[in-house]
Amino acid sequence: DAAICKFVSGFRFVHVISPQLFAIFAFATCGGYSGQLRVSVDCINKSDSNLSIGINFAYPFRLNRVEFDVPMCEGRRQERLYLIGDFSSSAEFFVTIAVFSFLYSLLATVVYIFFQNKYRENNRGPLIDFIVTVVFSFMWLVSSSAWAKGLSDVKAATDPDEVVLLMSACKVQTNKCSSVYGPRWSGLNTSVVFGYLNFVLWAGNIWFVFKETGWHKGGAARSEWVPSQ
Ligand SMILES: *[C@@H]1O[C@H](CO)[C@@H](O)[C@H](O)[C@H]1NC(C)=O
Ligand SMILES: *[C@@H]1O[C@H](CO)[C@@H](O)[C@H](O)[C@H]1NC(C)=O
Repeated sequence: DAAICKFVSGFRFVHVISPQLFAIFAFATCGGYSGQLRVSVDCINKSDSNLSIGINFAYPFRLNRVEFDVPMCEGRRQERLYLIGDFSSSAEFFVTIAVFSFLYSLLATVVYIFFQNKYRENNRGPLIDFIVTVVFSFMWLVSSSAWAKGLSDVKAATDPDEVVLLMSACKVQTNKCSSVYGPRWSGLNTSVVFGYLNFVLWAGNIWFVFKETGWHKGGAARSEWVPSQ
């Protein structure tokens, strides 16, 4: 009906719909990531070489569990190596905040649209909404910063030029080790950008939710609200 349409338009859209979209982008780009790097080990004895060693990794970036076999350039011998570092805590924290942020804004949408009267009752809805919005703003800032740091560490740990330094064959001058290609980072860079955008969005919402609490006019908001039917 027209009242509801008008109601969810304008800043309501910014307030209740866009946090859901932004949260989905944040957790989809981070949680759905998988990457690959490829290196080559060119032994002095060519038959021992492997010019295409692929190393795959994915969310949640427990890189120290990513194993790969590389030639040792001594006959058929291979060594099993692992990437370095476990960045799951910052990645999982980020995705968890995104998921809860999505669920909360979904719940808020339902409450705004279908339980408007309950929301206004005793000013309890706006009060809870205000506190939760402040908490989510803060959590987005913290988790985005933690994940930005985690991502830069993941980039360093999966740099093919660094990975070849782990291989014993590459410490021998006569063997040539090189990068074939590195992982693509666009998806994860996007996730960090969306993390900070979510922070800006939630921080901006603090003002709208604050106005709903009516605190800025000394608790007069309750009597001011007129049902739109
Ligand atoms: C290369 O292989 C040959 C025979 O397979 C061996 O005799 C020689 O020592 C190897 N060279 C190096 C540098 O490992
Ligand atoms: C080279 O390494 C890949 C793993 O990245 C492996 O699948 C392939 O069999 C290896 N090739 C040789 C010739 O050992």
